Amino acid sequence: MEIFNKINDTKRFVREVKGRAKTIGFVPTMGALHRGHLSLMEKAKAENDILAVSVFVNPLQFNNPEDLEKYPRDFAKDRKLLEEVGCDLLFYPDVEEMYPEPVSTKYDFGELEKVMEGSMRPGHFNGVAVVVKKLFDIVEPDKAYFGEKDFQQLAIIQKLVKMEHLPVTVVPCPIVREEDGLAMSSRNERLTAGQRQIASFIYQTLKEAVKKSHFMTPDEVRLFVRNRFKDEPDFKLEYFELTDDKELQPVSAWEEAPGIVGFIAAWLGNVRLIDNMRFI
Ligand code: PAF
Repeated sequence: MEIFNKINDTKRFVREVKGRAKTIGFVPTMGALHRGHLSLMEKAKAENDILAVSVFVNPLQFNNPEDLEKYPRDFAKDRKLLEEVGCDLLFYPDVEEMYPEPVSTKYDFGELEKVMEGSMRPGHFNGVAVVVKKLFDIVEPDKAYFGEKDFQQLAIIQKLVKMEHLPVTVVPCPIVREEDGLAMSSRNERLTAGQRQIASFIYQTLKEAVKKSHFMTPDEVRLFVRNRFKDEPDFKLEYFELTDDKELQPVSAWEEAPGIVGFIAAWLGNVRLIDNMRFI
């Protein structure tokens, strides 16, 4: 595995790979790798000649300084996992390398960035878009892999690729779950043992809500979920939303869109967890 901290070294490697007409599959990450990341990498490896991964905790996408500071980092462990999965290129820059100048780019993703994560975390998606665009420019992937756990992020990146005419195919990958259903996330590392035991309540609630949707209206399902959270004082529900699966706008009837997804963001202690499930 080649490890580069510098953009120019990475670009030189990419030029050489492209010169040999090899395809690049890319998985951008913020490190603290888990099986969810590894599933993206395995897919990228199987579908391309070269597996490229970036590890960069992107300060631009954190609207909460405490969240940035507490974001788990373990490069030695990540590096070992990347070697095991057969990563060919690891791009591991520091903040100065990625952002030598203040960034002023502002993207307009319309209604898509105004709901859910977009409304709760101002500036978050702009920060994601800035870094992903920059990483794509450096790594020049043929295909880039993103998990559906961050469904709204995936929709934003698909829109970015369209708006900017980027020559990359975005490949959505299904959520990977722990045995009890908890969606894998680097943030799970911050749960205490007690919190970890009850964390799958979010997944269980989504599953129950899907069952209810067979005979309840979307608003009734919203109320059902809110009430379920009221009975679990360890959790603080930030939002539950039912939206179409493209622009992620709230629906009031199941017939309103061909695809409908339910989204939860909730706090368990001081850890913010998100999850989603397809309803239609
Ligand atoms: O999903 C993530 O880990 C990050 O948002 C990403 C896509 C690597 C951009 O920093």
